[in-house]
Amino acid sequence: TWTTANVVDEQVALIREQVGTKRAICGLSGGVDSAVAAALVQKAIGPQLTCVYVDHGLMRKGETEQVEKDFVAATGVQLRVVDAEERFLTALAGVSDPEQKRKIIGREFIRVFEQAQAEIVAEAGAEGEDVAFLVQGTLYPDVVESGGGTGTANIKSHHNVGGLPDDIEFELVEPLRKLFKDEVRMVGQELGLPDEIVQRQPFPGPGLGIRIVGEVTRERLDLLREADAIAREELTAAGLDRDIWQCPVVLLADVRSVGVQGDGRTYGHPIVLRPVSSEDAMTADWTRMPYDVLARISTRITNEVAEVNRVVLDVTSKPPGTIEWE
Ligand code: XMP
Repeated sequence: TWTTANVVDEQVALIREQVGTKRAICGLSGGVDSAVAAALVQKAIGPQLTCVYVDHGLMRKGETEQVEKDFVAATGVQLRVVDAEERFLTALAGVSDPEQKRKIIGREFIRVFEQAQAEIVAEAGAEGEDVAFLVQGTLYPDVVESGGGTGTANIKSHHNVGGLPDDIEFELVEPLRKLFKDEVRMVGQELGLPDEIVQRQPFPGPGLGIRIVGEVTRERLDLLREADAIAREELTAAGLDRDIWQCPVVLLADVRSVGVQGDGRTYGHPIVLRPVSSEDAMTADWTRMPYDVLARISTRITNEVAEVNRVVLDVTSKPPGTIEWE
């Protein structure tokens, strides 16, 4: 029978068998999946695990601090934070194509993990260790949608599946590969993770990099971070966090429209709100959100975020739209 306790026991045994006495690193993104994967692996191999949080500059406001605080407090895991903003933004310069962005982000993640792994091995005096294990919080829907499952077409290369470079030198440890999101949340609870982690809404590994339609630049990221923070603040204040699966906030950086503000004409960018309701992210419906909450978000974003003069609501279900815009 399927119980979370069984899943935990089974995965702990499998992880021990796979990793043995070697070292593993786990990329933490701040999301539920990587947090639960890390907690599982920590239960299995304890101090042989080091978590690596890559600050790629594509994070939302406050996210890095939250990982440093909440996750370490909850698990006592060994954490390394790598500041890699410059590296990612340089690699992404001039790139607008969504799949290319995902490939680049996936590649840079691995390069950073390789570097961290080498440092960890050197510090432990374990040079010559022949296998490097990388823990990833890949879920069943990621496997299916990246074309690794049972005959489903490749929809997007989720960075933690299809977006990895071919010359990857890690052996992957993916203890959540057969689970759906709600099951992952239950496993996280079973492992004693707090609600702030377990009930977090999904956020994609490539971060805001795939929420800017157009080239990713620091200025655009700053702008989107502001808009996103306002939307999240108002959704939380309205008590809607549990009702909404997630609400991507997207910057249409390549689009401009005319507006009027104060006594002048503006020519700014639109922000898209994409609140969705879903069970497992495989399908989704747009959330019928209260108009007054939408109005508050719109007013605040257009008032507080320079360069944004329009807020639009995405009313497309999945299919035919995906949840993210890229
Ligand atoms: P889509 O846009 O494919 O998204 O409908 C389905 C769910 O997956 C998340 N998502 C990702 N998560 N790496 C991740 O870790 C990715 O590359 C990625 N792309 C999409 C998305 O936020 C939604 O929850």
